[in-house]
Amino acid sequence: MKLVGISGALRKASTNTGLLRAVRDLLPDGSTIDIITLHGIPLFDEDVIEASGKPAIVADIAERIRAADGVIIATPEYQFSVPGVLKNAHDWLSTMKAPFKWKRTGVIGASAGAMAGTARAQYHLRQNLQALQAIVMPRPEVLIVHNELKFDADGNLTDEETRQRLATWLAAFLEWVEKKP
Ligand SMILES: Cc1cc2nc3c(=O)[nH]c(=O)nc-3n(C[C@H](O)[C@H](O)[C@H](O)COP(=O)(O)O)c2cc1C
Repeated sequence: MKLVGISGALRKASTNTGLLRAVRDLLPDGSTIDIITLHGIPLFDEDVIEASGKPAIVADIAERIRAADGVIIATPEYQFSVPGVLKNAHDWLSTMKAPFKWKRTGVIGASAGAMAGTARAQYHLRQNLQALQAIVMPRPEVLIVHNELKFDADGNLTDEETRQRLATWLAAFLEWVEKKP
């Protein structure tokens, strides 16, 4: 199975990008994940399209999504919602001939402290994905609280219980993508 992973965080030591690396390490033989970060995407601006067309970087991401069997988005929560870079990417992608249309998509996330483990961001993200015509796995969920205790300083997942929960989620996701309910 061919997956794309999109991280909603730009920082090098992001725990959400680290979560996608942990997914990569858990994938069964024969499955792959192409991890995408959203560096270099300009702010969405229709005048830019008029002046110079759509950015090549967005076309490239759209193509990688189109080629995938499923997409996993790992999102942080900023201000109780989706980070601007992720929303911005979705705004651009909405102009690119529907790369998310009918795409089986999973949403996961990690945040700091004992708050909601990105629950609010994930629900806003599900709303955006509905507009993009993605089909989002309803359950199970991965809502990681206290990421500062579960990842190392480079953003690598170190907590075994979290890895187990992620493995359970991933098995459910792969089955769901395979069956295309
Ligand atoms: C601008 C900003 C806003 C944030 N807002 C929230 C929030 O609303 N809820 C939350 O749980 N954590 C919030 N946090 C803390 C993030 O959960 C934490 O920085 C997390 O590690 C970000 O994910 P990353 O490790 O992938 O970069 C915020 C952090 C920043 C920098």
